[in-house]
Amino acid sequence: MIKKSLFTCLSAVGLLLAFEASAGQSVEKNYAHFCAACHGADRLGGAGTALLPENLARLRRADAFKVIAEGRNASQMPGFGGGLAREDIQALVDFIYTPLPKVPVWGEKQINDSHLQRVMFGKFPDKPVFNADPLNLFVVVELGDHHATILDGDKFEPIHRFKTSFALHGGPKFSPDGRYVYFASRDGWISKFDIYNLKVMAEIRAGINTRNLAVSADGKTVLVGNYLPHSLVLLNAEDLSLIKVIPTIGQDGKSSRVSAVYQAEPRGSFVATLKDAKEVWEIPYGDKDFSARRIATDDYLDDFFFDQEYRHMIGAARDGKKGLVINLDSGKNVAVLDLPGMPHLGSGITWEYQGHPVMATPNLKEPVVSVIDMTTWQTIKQIKTLGGGFFMRSHENSPYAWTDGFNSTDHRDVMHIIDKRTLEVVKILRPMPGKTAAHVEFTRDGKYVLVSIWENDGWLLIYDAATLQEIKRLPMNKPSGKYNVYNKITRSAGTSH
Ligand code: HEC
Repeated sequence: MIKKSLFTCLSAVGLLLAFEASAGQSVEKNYAHFCAACHGADRLGGAGTALLPENLARLRRADAFKVIAEGRNASQMPGFGGGLAREDIQALVDFIYTPLPKVPVWGEKQINDSHLQRVMFGKFPDKPVFNADPLNLFVVVELGDHHATILDGDKFEPIHRFKTSFALHGGPKFSPDGRYVYFASRDGWISKFDIYNLKVMAEIRAGINTRNLAVSADGKTVLVGNYLPHSLVLLNAEDLSLIKVIPTIGQDGKSSRVSAVYQAEPRGSFVATLKDAKEVWEIPYGDKDFSARRIATDDYLDDFFFDQEYRHMIGAARDGKKGLVINLDSGKNVAVLDLPGMPHLGSGITWEYQGHPVMATPNLKEPVVSVIDMTTWQTIKQIKTLGGGFFMRSHENSPYAWTDGFNSTDHRDVMHIIDKRTLEVVKILRPMPGKTAAHVEFTRDGKYVLVSIWENDGWLLIYDAATLQEIKRLPMNKPSGKYNVYNKITRSAGTSH
């Protein structure tokens, strides 16, 4: 039900935003007109986050005012300072910090009741029903109309296109053999798709407002991190049945949202960070009771990634000026990184540079890519770009790293090609002038690069990774992320895991 009403709301968003609110209109009306399409009629979240006092613990009221007036950098949150009077914005601030009479419960019972097994398991063949390299497929998420396309990564031809849940978030994750892909949507629905047989196997609603999911390297368990309720949810990867709900309560006894969950294959564990407590949780997935080891951190971690060995975690708070390096073995905060431009660590990549492992991350606010030596944790170069970027990608077989200008105002249509050997921008592509170009992924062999033209009448552009020439384009409806099976399941250093 909720899914459906969100769809209707979202299609109406353009219309609603066109309304001119006059000062003095009731706050409920303003909320319904301007906010509900993204944050939910009931403030429980949708494409935007849930706006409840229990989820706004870290945001001071003055900052909430600023976010509503000016919008938020690098997100879909628009600014309303132009259309709403100051007192209207203040009323909205007070409104969102007012507790709901009743926050819906989403616990074991509700999760179990939502479980849908779509097909009989075990009766499908263990071979793909199509003729293509199953490890060189891409899952392309098309946000425009909530679909995903399975793409043949050799011929660059779509094999199958299917409807996904509302507003996928956080990137789909594959089973270790690459046969299944798991999706999480913002409104908590988790689904399992059999790529070989092109069928949705099972679905379950793990939360009301969800951040992302991870799949254990043994293929047995799925972990979901929620914004609302404040919980981690463990599911059986086979049929998505519920294993356990873990409420996320910090050492200080306060309940917290989850910023993200990942699996750390070399450690045999899941790693989760709390958003409202300075804590990382490591949960070994081999353990029966999935008990969490808590690691205290010096700051909040909204965004993070790992070195290739998963010994270190590199994280940052959203508004922080520094990055933190945490040694996951010792549990110690071992270094502070100079990352002044709001890094997007979730898109960080690593490679070998002059015999040392280095990491690189785009920065949302500053037009630079930070390159950091991962042995000394010193910044070795800030590579200048035309505008703040969001995604960065490379491949072991390519000397180039690609990054966009997604977060700039004037350079959303560019792709910067950085030579990983010299740390110089060697070429700037403008794939379709005036149209947003973002998110890159390489083919399994690193020979071709797929670039999204992130528009409703968008495209998937395919480039030769060596000559940097476009070789093909496919129409897509706001293609966002694309995920190569092989690069993901082998944890390629050039892509996020
Ligand atoms: C087009 C979608 C959209 C609309 C419309 C929208 N928001 Fe948002 N809003 C978002 C998204 C997405 C975020 C999360 C941004 C991020 O990634 O941090 C957000 C974040 C916020 C935050 C910060 C929450 C936090 O935890 O830091 C506040 C406050 C907020 N919105 C209030 C409002 C209000 C009030 C309105 C109506 C006047 C509104 N928003 C309209 C999408 C929207």
